[in-house]
Amino acid sequence: MAASIIVTGGRPLSGEVRVGGAKNSALKLMAAALLAPGVSVVNNVPAITDVATMADVLRGLGVGVERDDHTLRIDATQITSHEAPYELVARMRASIIVLGPLVARLGRARVAMPGGCNIGSRKIDMHIRGLQDLGVAIDLGHGYIEATAPEGLHGAHVILDFPSVGATENLLMAAVLAEGTTTIENAAREPEIGDLVDMLVSMGARIEGRGSATLVVTGVHELAPVRHRTVGDRIEAGTYLVAGALTGGPVTVRGVTPGHLEMVLTKLEQAGCDVGGLADGVTIRRDRAIRPVDVATLPYPGFPTDMQAQFMALMSLADGSSVITENVFENRFMFADEIRRMGADITIEGHRALVRGTDRLSGAPVICPDLRGGAALVLAGLVAEGETVVTEVEHILRGYESFTEKLRSLGADVRLAD
Ligand code: UD1
Repeated sequence: MAASIIVTGGRPLSGEVRVGGAKNSALKLMAAALLAPGVSVVNNVPAITDVATMADVLRGLGVGVERDDHTLRIDATQITSHEAPYELVARMRASIIVLGPLVARLGRARVAMPGGCNIGSRKIDMHIRGLQDLGVAIDLGHGYIEATAPEGLHGAHVILDFPSVGATENLLMAAVLAEGTTTIENAAREPEIGDLVDMLVSMGARIEGRGSATLVVTGVHELAPVRHRTVGDRIEAGTYLVAGALTGGPVTVRGVTPGHLEMVLTKLEQAGCDVGGLADGVTIRRDRAIRPVDVATLPYPGFPTDMQAQFMALMSLADGSSVITENVFENRFMFADEIRRMGADITIEGHRALVRGTDRLSGAPVICPDLRGGAALVLAGLVAEGETVVTEVEHILRGYESFTEKLRSLGADVRLAD
C-alpha cells in the first residue's frame, strides 16, 4: 500500500471531477442489507478501504459480498455468526453499525467496543441506551458489547442527548423490525440518514419524518431485499470544491446534490468564491483574495465537521483572521499542527482555532493525522511553494477513491509513492 502522497504546489487547477457514492452512506446501506434474507444490491458504492472493511465484517457474519465495479451484491439469506470481532472494529469504528440490524434480525449480537479514536473520545452510550429502551439487554465486558433480545424488540420513545449520526442509524435499523412504534427524537438529519431511510422504506419498513429531527418507525415483521443507489458524497465533493477555492479553479464537481452542501457553499461564497449549482453538481471559481470567514461545525444542516480541516486550509491563506469552532468532536484539530509546519498561523484554544491568514504556505514533510485532515494537507500542498510530502496516507484511502488521479485530472502535480 502506498505510504505517501507527494504534491508540488503552484499548478493551476481546472476542469471537472465526478464524486462517488457517500462513504458514510454506503457503509450503513451495507449493514441495512443484513435486515432482509435474500440478495440486496447497492449501486454507486465507492472503492475505498472502509467499504472493504465493512465487506469483511459482513463476510465474518456468514454473509456473501461480491463487488462488480461500483456495485455490491450482498447475500444475507443466512447469517451464521452474530459477532463483529475486535480486529475489524479496531480497523473501522463504523463497524458498530451492525449492532442494531443484527439484534433486530437474530435477537442477539456481539460487537467489539471501538477503542479510542484519534478524533476525540467518540462514545457509544446513546447507541446502548437507545437499544435498551427498545428492549435489548446489554452486557458490557471483556471489550465486547453483548446484546440480546430473546423476547424480540419493542417500540419505545427515545430522545437522543445529541443528534448522533451513528446512534440514529443503529436505532433506526433496530426499530424497523421491533413490535410497535418507536419515536426517535433529536435524530440526526444528515443526508446519509435520508438515504438509509429510503433504502429501509423500499425494503418494506414504515418510517415517517425523513429529514426531520423526529423519526417515527412502525415495526414490521419482515423486510425484503432491494436494489438501492448510494447518495453522492457531499464531503468528497466539498473537498474538491475547496481545491478549486484554493487554486482559483474553475472546478466543476459532479455526482452530488448541491442542496446537501448548502452551508459549505454559503461559506465558500462568503470567502470570496463564485459558486454555481448545477442539477448534479457545483462549479466554483475564485478571482479575488480569500476573505476570512468564521465557521462553527454543527450537526446537519450546520457546517460539517468532516469539512472543518479543508476549510481551515483555505482560511490559512485568507486576507485576515478567522475563528473555526469545532462543536461535534473533541480534539479534532490535529491537522492544525501539521499545516503549521507549512507556515500556517493557527492558535488552538479548547475547541476554537484562531487562524491568521498568511500570504503563502511552503511545502514541507507532514504526517496525515486522519482521513479529512490528510486530504486537507494535500489541498494545502496544491498551493504551497515547492514540494509537500504527506506520509501515512492510508487514512486518505479509507475514504477517497482515486484521490490523486482525480486531482491530477484537474491539473495538479500529485502522486502516490511507496
Ligand atoms: C459519523 C460519520 C463521521 C462524521 C460524524 C458527524 C460515519 C461512518 N461517520 O460519525 O464521518 O464526522 O458522523 O457528522 O458515518 N457521541 C456520544 N455518544 C454516542 C454517540 C456519539 O457522546 O453514543 C458523540 C461523539 O463522541 C461525537 C458526537 O457525538 O462527539 C457526534 O458523533 P456521531 O454523530 O455519532 O458520529 P459518528 O456516527 O461516529
